Amino acid sequence: MVGIDRINYYTPRTYLDMTTLAEARGVDPNKYIKGIGQEQMAVLGEHEDIITMAAEAAAPILDDKDAIDLIVFATESGVDFSKAASIYLQHLLEIPNPVRAIEMKQACYALTSGLHLATDFVKSHPGKKALVVSSDIAWYGFETAGEVTQGAGAIAIIVAENPRIARVNSGVPYTEDVPDFYRPNTSDVPIVDGKFSIDCYNKALIETFPKHTYKYVGFHMPFAKMADKANRILEEFAISDDALTCVKSYSKTIGNIYNGSLYLALIGILTHADDLSGETIGMFSYGSGSIGEFFTLDIVEGYDNYMDTDAWQTHLTSRHALDMKGYEQAMNAFMAREKMHDYAYQDRAPEQATYVLSAIRNGHREYQKR
Ligand code: HMG
Repeated sequence: MVGIDRINYYTPRTYLDMTTLAEARGVDPNKYIKGIGQEQMAVLGEHEDIITMAAEAAAPILDDKDAIDLIVFATESGVDFSKAASIYLQHLLEIPNPVRAIEMKQACYALTSGLHLATDFVKSHPGKKALVVSSDIAWYGFETAGEVTQGAGAIAIIVAENPRIARVNSGVPYTEDVPDFYRPNTSDVPIVDGKFSIDCYNKALIETFPKHTYKYVGFHMPFAKMADKANRILEEFAISDDALTCVKSYSKTIGNIYNGSLYLALIGILTHADDLSGETIGMFSYGSGSIGEFFTLDIVEGYDNYMDTDAWQTHLTSRHALDMKGYEQAMNAFMAREKMHDYAYQDRAPEQATYVLSAIRNGHREYQKR
């Protein structure tokens, strides 16, 4: 049996409240809070990028570095066309050099693909483990329709034999070439047909859902209300309102973290559901462009001894709210930095930050562990 041995998430320590954004945009706050389902969204700190976020998520669960034989880094916010983000991560986390390290891309679906790849890899390499991470910055731009569906964050998963959290079962995929959301090399932000993208998501769910009743289904959540829309499609197989509340609990205050969004739903279920030992959980993954996959996880007895739900909750509640000026400053700094060939981080990062992007020299990134 192979699957999720440990799981953790990270999101930046600063966020924007949706009421603040709505007031600045002249929109009824209920549109964002009730219509979109978002209360807050995470905003990237100036000291961080996708590699530092992935390191923050992975470090607390990386207790057996010598056994890691594969690192898969799923992202659609890549920092280099050639070099895999996983190589920066391997260095920063001091994972021994005899390891394979790759980056995977397919919009928000790549982490699911990476999880299945790692599961098969561990099955064929007995005794070895894989580190599978996602890290993304969902950035649509100021005053766009997608602005309210932004966010940032990372997921880290250790895949191993005899997993202590969940066995991963293979699923049903559905691939269709559609122009719902894509980011060509010429663009800093995605080109999005919002309403059509929701139709594509729904179609992929209908094509892959096995018409079976699950107590919990984790949905990919580009915004929290998407889980309600998707759940309605399941008709008589829909999960309960209480289950849906667990599913949305993290996403509604973090926003879209692209690849990791489905796994925030899982973290919400693991945090808030009553004993899940022996339960099979449904998981619907969707990445625009598009691929949908419905698969399942069998939760292992004693799983709750291997998750720090108090730390997960405290991380969320101890974040710091930004005003509009702070949000604009952070995202302008992010956009400017991503185009810099040479950069040195000047300010002091928050004291809780363990990993910092310290410099970019000749296009190559440098990091500090504190
Ligand atoms: P919009 O045009 O701003 O919103 O776009 P709207 O006018 O459709 O309103 C949204 C909802 O708010 C509606 O409810 C309104 O009725 C309601 P619905 O009809 O959906 O049930 N509303 C109100 N409710 C209460 N009080 C009010 C009020 N006013 C309106 N006063 C959209 C929304 C999500 C399309 C936009 O934000 C967007 O384009 N976002 C980005 C794309 C996206 O998230 N797509 C989702 C599916 S694709 C996907 O999941 C993949 C993705 O993660 C990328 C990847 O794979 O890499 C995005």
